[in-house]
Amino acid sequence: MKSLAFYFISKKEKLLTRKGLIEPFGMDFIASKLEIRKATRRELYSITVLTRKFFPYTGFNMQMIEKRLKNRKIHYYAALYDKFTIGFIDFKENEKSIKILGLAVLPEFQRRGVGKKLLEIALKFAKEKKKEIIYLLLSKENFPAAKLYEKEGFVIKGKLEKRIWDQEILLLQRKLE
Ligand SMILES: CC(C)(COP(=O)(O)OP(=O)(O)OC[C@H]1O[C@@H](n2cnc3c(N)ncnc32)[C@H](O)[C@@H]1OP(=O)(O)O)[C@@H](O)C(=O)NCCC(=O)NCCS
Repeated sequence: MKSLAFYFISKKEKLLTRKGLIEPFGMDFIASKLEIRKATRRELYSITVLTRKFFPYTGFNMQMIEKRLKNRKIHYYAALYDKFTIGFIDFKENEKSIKILGLAVLPEFQRRGVGKKLLEIALKFAKEKKKEIIYLLLSKENFPAAKLYEKEGFVIKGKLEKRIWDQEILLLQRKLE
């Protein structure tokens, strides 16, 4: 039995439900249909779905993400394709640094430069706020993300002593001028 929430479509936002997930976009990706903007409550449901899919270990539910969206130190940006939410990035603003907390793009939209664009938003934010570094924790096994971060100038700064979810965790960072 599938949950009702799975088929729920908010009036404010066209959501990616199981029905609409793959077919409408086919393989053609029209760059002009991509928009990246600060996430609002309108994207709450989609961000929750993406978080559950990619970062289930956080245990975040919709209420928790709603709180995070209101937190002035946590910044969420959503990637929308043709008004559908297809990805997001969130990062935390510290005094001298930015910590990337999550970055995810729906599989159907991966390898089209969306992740890079989202990451560039965080980098731009960090530079404008004159932060010294931008960093994140990443599983050693996450090759696609490691490739993306490497391309964007991140280097491995260390490794967490403790394994999380039975995975080795790397500390990646990039210094900002
Ligand atoms: C990591 C992730 C966000 C990348 O998003 P994306 O939109 O596919 O990335 P982009 O298309 O912008 O890729 C930019 C570059 O990163 C590298 N890259 C991205 N995905 C890759 C893959 N699967 N294999 C090899 N290189 C990859 C490539 O160099 C790519 O450039 P290219 O396509 O011109 O070769 C996406 O794979 C994802 O959502 N993964 C699941 C969630 C996750 O692991 N997030 C990271 C932890 S915070």
